[in-house]
Formats: sequence, C-alpha cells, structure tokens
Amino acid sequence: MTVKLERRNGIAVVTIDNPPVNALGRAVREKLWALAGELDEDPSVRAVVLTGAGKLFVGGADITEFDRPVEPPGLPELIARIEAAAKPWVGAIRGVALGGGLEITLGCCFRIATADARFALPETTLGIIPGAGGTQRLPRLIGIDHAIGVVAENLTLDAAHAVELGLVDRLVDEPLVDAAEAFVLEALERPLPEPVSRRPVAAVDPARLQEAEARIRRAARGAAAPPLALAALRFGLEHGFASGMANERAVFLKLRASPEAAALRYLFFAERAALRPADMRGITPFAIGRVGVVGGGTMGVGIAAALRNANLPVVLVERDETSLARGMAALAAVFQAARKKGGLSEAEAERRIGAVTGAVGYAALAECDLVIEAVFEDLSVKRAVFAELGRICRRDAVLATNTSYIDPRLIAAGLPEPGRFIGLHFFSPAQVMKLLEIVPTPATRPEVLATAFDLARRLAKIPVRSGICDGFIGNRILRRYRTEAEVLLRDGVSAAAIDAAMRGFGFAMGPFEMQDMAGLDISFLYREAARSRGETVPETPGDLLVRAGRKGQKTGGGWYDYAPGDRTPQPSAEAARILAPMQAPPQTLAPEAIVERLLAAMAAEGQAILAEGIAAIPTDIDLVEVHGYGFPRRRGGPMFQASRAANRTQDGN
Ligand code: COA
Ligand code: NAD
Repeated sequence: MTVKLERRNGIAVVTIDNPPVNALGRAVREKLWALAGELDEDPSVRAVVLTGAGKLFVGGADITEFDRPVEPPGLPELIARIEAAAKPWVGAIRGVALGGGLEITLGCCFRIATADARFALPETTLGIIPGAGGTQRLPRLIGIDHAIGVVAENLTLDAAHAVELGLVDRLVDEPLVDAAEAFVLEALERPLPEPVSRRPVAAVDPARLQEAEARIRRAARGAAAPPLALAALRFGLEHGFASGMANERAVFLKLRASPEAAALRYLFFAERAALRPADMRGITPFAIGRVGVVGGGTMGVGIAAALRNANLPVVLVERDETSLARGMAALAAVFQAARKKGGLSEAEAERRIGAVTGAVGYAALAECDLVIEAVFEDLSVKRAVFAELGRICRRDAVLATNTSYIDPRLIAAGLPEPGRFIGLHFFSPAQVMKLLEIVPTPATRPEVLATAFDLARRLAKIPVRSGICDGFIGNRILRRYRTEAEVLLRDGVSAAAIDAAMRGFGFAMGPFEMQDMAGLDISFLYREAARSRGETVPETPGDLLVRAGRKGQKTGGGWYDYAPGDRTPQPSAEAARILAPMQAPPQTLAPEAIVERLLAAMAAEGQAILAEGIAAIPTDIDLVEVHGYGFPRRRGGPMFQASRAANRTQDGN
C-alpha cells in the first residue's frame, strides 16, 4: 500500500503510506496523480486532506531513484495538478516534511501541522537543488529572506516558526486527521486563498541578495549546489513563476546527474548502513548508563563532552588533583564555548558539567558500565591503567582504549574477562568529529562490539569497524598520503604547490600546512622510536626540519615560516635550504596531476587495507576519510574517486 484513501463527511483523506519515510517514489506519484483526477470528478468530495502514515509526513523524493532517469509523473507536474485541483487540498503534517515533502505541501491550499512538525529543503546536502517548486513557491509564501535560508542554507523550520512565517496556517493537536477535518469544514465557509504560485513576491534589495550570495558561497567551500539554489530562487524573482519553474527543473536535472550529487548520495546511504552492520543484527548490546573516562587531557575531555552531549553521566579520572582540576576546567570551557556560540543555555551548560564526577583514583569507576581509557600513548602506562580497571570495575563492564597506534591486544594482555575489551578510537576534538573507529580484538565478544555501535549511534557518530594494524584505517592512510606528498616534494614540487592543489580539490588544508598545524615532532618521535628498536626507517624531509628545530607553527616554522600571532603559511628560505639535499631541481606539476597522485596513493593503501581484511568494505574507508580526516564530502572519498576513475578508464577503452 503506497497511498490510502478514506472518505469522511465529504472530505477525502489521502494518506501516503510508503515506509520507511513515505518517500515520493514513482508508485506514490502515480497513485496521487490518479487520485487527484478521481477526487476532482467525485461530487461527494468537498476537500482533500493529504497526510503521511506513521511518525512523519514525507522524507522527500525517493533518493534511490536518482541514479535512473526521471520516471513520470514528475513531482512538479503532480504538485501543479494538486494546486489546480477543483477542490482545496490541505496538507496535514506531523514530523518531518523534507524536500519534495515540503514542496508538495506548497501546492496545497492550506497547511496545518502538529507541534513536532519540521520543514526543510535538504537537497543541497545531496548536491542538488529543490526540483519541484521549492525555490519558487517558498519565497512567495514566507518571503525571500527566510526562503533563502531554507532553500540554500539548509535551515530547518520548526512548527512554531513555520506558523510565524505563514508557512503553516494552524498548529493543531492529535489526532491530526480529526483536526484537519475540523479545519477544512471551517475553511470551506470562507473564500479560498490564492494558489501560492500566483501570489506576488516582494521586491528584493540587491545588496541583501549579494550579501547572501557571498555568505552561501563561503559556506559551500566549492560545492556547486548551494549557490545554484540561490541563483534559481533569484531567477524566478526576476523572470516570473513559469520561467522560474522551468529554470529550476533544468538546474535540478543537471545537478542530479553530476558526480558531486552521486558522491553525496553514496555517502547518504553509506552513513546509514554504517550504523547497522549486517553482522550485528540480532545481537543485543549492553545497556550503558554511567561511563568512566580515564585521562582528562585533549581526548579525555573531548570524549567526556561527547558523552555528556548525549546525556550520559560521566566519571572523569585523572592521576592527580592538579591534572584533574585542569581537565574539569577544560571540560567546563567546552560547554561554555557552546553556550557563547548560542547552542546551549547557561542552565544547560551547568547541567552538562554538573553530571561529571571528577576523581583521582579508580574507586569511582566501580559502578560504570563502560570505561574509556585516554591516557598517554605509552603501553606501560596503559597496561597499568587496565590492571587497575580489571581489579575495580564490574566483571560485565565494557573496557575500551582510545589508543591511536598501540596494538590493543598488547594493552588487554592479562585483563580478566578479555571479551569485554575493545578499541574505541575517537578523533580530536572528540565532541565534534563524527568518526569513531571501533577496533575489536579477536577476544572481543559480539555483544561488546554491538555495544560500541550502539554507543556511536547515541553519540551521533559514524562508526567504522577496523581490524588491528599500525594506525588502524585512518592513520595508516594518512601516513601513506603524507609519504606520497613527500615523494612529490623530493621530486622538486614545492610544498606550496602541493598544498594549493589539495585545497583546490576541497581539503581545508594541504598535507604540509596540516603538519605545521599539528606539529612535525609527533611523527618524528614515532620514527625515532622505531629506529631505536633497530627498525630501518629511512630519513625523511620532515626529520631534517625537526632536527633543525622546525616543528611547525608552535616553533614559528616547519615546512613554512609563520609570523608571530599569524597562522598564515609563508614560503620559507630556511626550510628550502634545509631540504635542498633531499630535493631534485624544482619542477612544476599541474594541480590535477598532484591530486591524482595523492588520491591514487590513498586508494592504493585502501586496497591493501581491504585485502588484509582491516576494513570490510570500500565505503568504510571513505567514511573514515570524510568524517575523520577532512576529505571533501562532495568528492565521496578516495575509494569512491578511484572507482569513478576506473569506470572512466573502462568507458574510454
Ligand atoms: N529516499 C529513499 N530512502 C530514504 C530517504 C529518501 N528520501 N530518506 C531516508 N531513506 C531511507 C534510509 O536510507 C534508511 O534506509 P535503511 O533503513 O535501508 O538504512 C531509512 O530510509 C530510514 O532512514 P534514517 O535516516 O535511518 O531514518 P531516521 O528516522 O533517522 O530519519 C529522515 C528520517 C527522513 C529524517 C532522514 O532519513 C532524512 O533526512 N532523509 C533524507 C531527507 C532528504 O534529504 N530529502 C530530500 C531528498 S531530495
Ligand atoms: P594528553 O597528553 O592530552 O592527555 C593524557 C592525559 O592522561 C593527561 O591529562 C594525563 O594527566 C592523564 N593520565 C596519564 N596517566 C594517567 C593515569 N594513570 N590515570 C589517569 N590519568 C592519567 O593526551 P591525548 O592527546 O588526550 O591522548 C590520549 C590518548 O588518546 C592517547 O592514547 C592518544 O594516542 C589517543 N588519541 C589522541 C588523539 C589526538 O589527536 N590527540 C586522537 C586520537 C587518539
């Protein structure tokens, strides 16, 4: 059943019933199209109520159809048909009305909604623009300023705001259909409003539009859709509704077929699938109430903040009172910063820090269901921590390490009940970064693994399971990426050219700027440690810089020079001199060639990771890169890029 029809008191109630999200797929559109004709002809029907079954109205167009040509009837025609119907249609909305779901309500004569309703046009997040009148009808209904936010800046309107702006005619209580019936009977007593498409639109201040355009372009960071959504809206204002609709559809269809939209759709489905891995089905996770965090440094504080943001009470353990005070102050600062940004009320910030119990010593962890260790990256320190945890924590408590590089099997050695041990690799800042690498050992029980995925869902993270190898998935690819960048540098390509090429591709920073920011000494010390163990690790250009005291921004220079108080990288004559013995004569390489080389290196490492069974599927690698390492979302990820390149080669043959 895709669409249901019920008649009551001269009113036809049309319910879209297309689980899971009532998407407007072809079968739904066909049925609605047929019903629009049928109800027009039916003399017993005075008005039509359009609603959605279950908890939401409509989650949008059916995204799974976007890889195929549009199948008629198209949504714009259907909405025009509803708008032109002989009887008034009333949109009755509970839950979300997204994308096409919002657009179809704009074709209705009225909209009523329950208090939980939310309205948005998230098309730009999928690399497209609204394609069924969103850019044309919305400004006519709620005014240009607010329409720009919804159309091009992914602004969501809640029910109260929607009423204020005139998008919703009345806020109602459940049962929704009863309320809709009462509303319609009243509305039929009065003249009907003008269809939205025929309403006038106020003149625009060109300066305001320009301002919006600059803002949207900046935020889009090279993504095509948001500025084009604004341009489509603007085109309609200048050329009228009919031309505006034709233009909107043309842009929508073009973008729908673009590589950017394909990449964003791919990630949309990958992100949802990541939360529910097939081999976790039917396995019940443990209930997690109270969580312990050991170590209140950079990561411990971020992890504690992420847990509190998900409303989990936290016990934060440090090694001494001074470190504890510093950690608690850093945690309070995270919530205060969120308050200043406007995301939290003072009371809520207080509540979040209020449910953190700080402690020195491990006794306070006895009642925790999960403990996450985030102490120094040192095997003996970590083992000492787990020896204590093994003694103090409940036997059924899950124990996790946030190690970046150390083999979790070594950390867990000797732990009683090793089946409850797992790696939970958060990224910095942990309250912001979406990625959570989940690293089970061979002993980890399936319920513990399922608990880790469940935790990720509660923290709104993207979980990716990784096997055990040096650096797990993400840091291993990062190392390969940096190594390849250094190969180019040795071949005579400048760091500035390499960084600029990667920024041009969509990274916020290139590989050398990024190292200057993070500090070159961490990986240097890592290589030195390997050398001191007798391993052969050839000297790298980075080693030369660190030995010369150039550790990055914190020492005033690394690959680049930095003026005091200024983070802008400046070309460095000194770095050039230090690196000269390792560099070939300068050569110029096109940005595309640089990008191709570095992406190919990442994808090759990804292939090796797959071949070794460290990652299960290519999408996992792409999720790691996009959510942990700043890979531009609109490019899908290194494995997605490699598969497209392979397809292009095939097509070319
Ligand atoms: N078309 C096709 N499938 C969709 C879909 C759409 N518009 N929206 C969601 N789905 C699928 C998801 O892939 C998921 O499938 P799965 O169970 O096989 O993994 C399922 O519906 C449930 O989605 P999920 O996001 O997990 O549910 P939720 O309850 O957390 O959120 C929504 C529901 C509608 C808020 C959310 O799915 C969403 O934002 N959808 C996209 C909206 C959008 O961008 N619309 C514009 C399209 S142009
Ligand atoms: P950090 O030096 O900022 O913090 C470590 C904290 O642990 C310090 O505050 C220290 O006082 C505390 N500590 C040390 N021994 C302790 C003990 N026995 N009991 C209680 N507390 C103790 O380090 P960090 O950057 O937060 O890293 C912590 C862990 O997270 C490391 O394993 C690191 O590899 C990993 N990690 C770091 C990052 C990152 O970007 N910083 C990212 C992912 C993972």
